[in-house]
Amino acid sequence: MIFFYFVLQILLLKRYIYCEEFNLFGDAGQAYALEVNIGHPPQKLHVLVDTGSTTLAIASYARKDSGIYFHQENSTTLYNSGKEVQAKYSQGTWSGNLASDFVQFPTLPMVPEVRSDIALITKSYKFFMNGSGWQGLLGLAYLPVAAWGENVVVGSWLDFVERHVKKPMSFELKLCGTHSPENATHYGNLQMFDDKNSSAISNEFIFRTPILRKRWYEVGVLSVHLINSTFKNNVANNIATEDSNKTNGGIDQDICRELNIEKGIVDSGTTSIRLPDAIFRQIVSELSNSVQTSNMLILDEFWYHGEAACWPEPQEWNLPSLAIDLLSTEADNQYFTLEIPAQNFMRVVTARNNSAESGTVSEFCYKLGLEAGGKETVLGYTAMEGLQVLFNRSASWIGWKPSDCGPNARVTGLYNTTKSLLYLCQLTQPMPDVNVSIKAAQWTLCAFSIIAAAVLIYLLAPCIKMFFVRPLPRSQQISLSQAALVEQET
Ligand SMILES: *[C@@H]1O[C@H](CO)[C@@H](O)[C@H](O)[C@H]1NC(C)=O
Ligand SMILES: *[C@@H]1O[C@H](CO)[C@@H](O)[C@H](O)[C@H]1NC(C)=O
Ligand SMILES: *[C@@H]1O[C@H](CO)[C@@H](O)[C@H](O)[C@H]1NC(C)=O
Ligand SMILES: *[C@@H]1O[C@H](CO)[C@@H](O)[C@H](O)[C@H]1NC(C)=O
Ligand SMILES: *[C@@H]1O[C@H](CO)[C@@H](O)[C@H](O)[C@H]1NC(C)=O
Ligand SMILES: *[C@@H]1O[C@H](CO)[C@@H](O)[C@H](O)[C@H]1NC(C)=O
Ligand SMILES: *[C@@H]1O[C@H](CO)[C@@H](O)[C@H](O)[C@H]1NC(C)=O
Repeated sequence: MIFFYFVLQILLLKRYIYCEEFNLFGDAGQAYALEVNIGHPPQKLHVLVDTGSTTLAIASYARKDSGIYFHQENSTTLYNSGKEVQAKYSQGTWSGNLASDFVQFPTLPMVPEVRSDIALITKSYKFFMNGSGWQGLLGLAYLPVAAWGENVVVGSWLDFVERHVKKPMSFELKLCGTHSPENATHYGNLQMFDDKNSSAISNEFIFRTPILRKRWYEVGVLSVHLINSTFKNNVANNIATEDSNKTNGGIDQDICRELNIEKGIVDSGTTSIRLPDAIFRQIVSELSNSVQTSNMLILDEFWYHGEAACWPEPQEWNLPSLAIDLLSTEADNQYFTLEIPAQNFMRVVTARNNSAESGTVSEFCYKLGLEAGGKETVLGYTAMEGLQVLFNRSASWIGWKPSDCGPNARVTGLYNTTKSLLYLCQLTQPMPDVNVSIKAAQWTLCAFSIIAAAVLIYLLAPCIKMFFVRPLPRSQQISLSQAALVEQET
């Protein structure tokens, strides 16, 4: 009897943990959204968690495809300055007013309700997605990339919280991807910690990369290449391997300079891993060769033009993993490696199992989670799923470790090089100091990719091959990071 009671307790506990664990949700390609209460009485809305921008921006008008927005007239505590602020994207924009009101996140009970600056969006162009489950953004980056207007900058919610609690705050993103191959909805968890009181979280086996510049979360990406991850089940991996004896410990000077020529950022508001064009082409050609040798057919439209490939059943990917080498905080000649499995970058965009019903066809569609990014390197959420990523703002590092959910991603290292990587890769020195002077910043944001058409390939093994084209909605990829920052002298 006692035994059964015990088992029941464990089952209940497990259920509790399982259910309470997630506070972030998103549809395929739409990043991760968090519930927020704004104003008094509180109005419940959803915002995308975006480490690629800084402003808390909320729709305050009804759009053609969504009647959910912030009703300013209903909040008794709203202060609207009337000052115009804006954000520009290369294919979309929004503009609105600088306001302030009380902001609280019901799933972050440790974080107090604070009065914060908010951008109330009154006009937008190609910013909101059709029928998306979110009405705004929660930007978690630094002030130099905040939305701005004439002589005003929209203050960051995180800064308001830090001023209120008088302590620096860190946050952790645990993004898990989908739960099952039959449902493309993805799940994750955002947690906040105050740094003076964070002994509860274990920093053991965490690999840290320094934040090089405090605008976006800019880090030193040293190399991106494919590896055959043959020791997937080897958990005790935190030791240096024979790799560390290669010339410069495996870091190629030309590649790492190219990866950082503009910037390398960690951006939860972007779906894909975006790489400089030449490096993207190299990796994708290796991937498509590797698919061919495993007797599958996937067209170039999938690899190079962002189109979807579909099958009547879910796919298991037997492909190499993507290794991303990041500079370590330990020494400027050390780095560690994120190993991102194919499950991350062969992204499910449609999962429809209709075999039980009659009439319709089952369809499991995938898109490549890698993109050519011009000169920039963006580690979108494809590079974060299956990992726990801790943004320690006061100590200026981002910590990575494998998580207990999602794809089987790993972190290995540390590896040594003979030379200073800061010098070899011409990286900016890490910035130790929190306060970055705000210069008037003018920036454009990189817009959502427009997906004109999608190719669906049905591979009915072994002999019948079908092929047809069908447009998929725009919402299947997102990129909210700001593409260019022009700093002006004040
Ligand atoms: C706003 O207030 C009006 C009048 O009190 C009420 O009818 C309406 O439902 C409120 N809307 C929201 C979104 O709270
Ligand atoms: C937006 O969604 C509605 C309903 O889901 C649909 O009828 C409409 O065609 C969509 N518009 C665009 C531009 O995708
Ligand atoms: C996926 O799962 C979520 C939550 O479990 C559910 O709300 C949603 O309807 C599912 N989507 C599909 C297409 O089955
Ligand atoms: C952030 O770094 C500081 C300094 O190393 C440390 O005291 C603090 O505990 C860290 N915060 C978290 C949440 O790990
Ligand atoms: C590692 O480097 C040292 C010194 O350059 C060399 O003597 C040694 O043979 C190398 N070991 C391997 C496994 O390549
Ligand atoms: C689809 O659903 C049917 C019945 O619910 C199930 O038997 C089948 O395994 C599912 N197919 C896939 C590919 O998951
Ligand atoms: C790497 O370098 C550090 C100090 O620079 C040293 O302590 C460590 O032993 C080196 N590791 C390897 C595997 O060579």
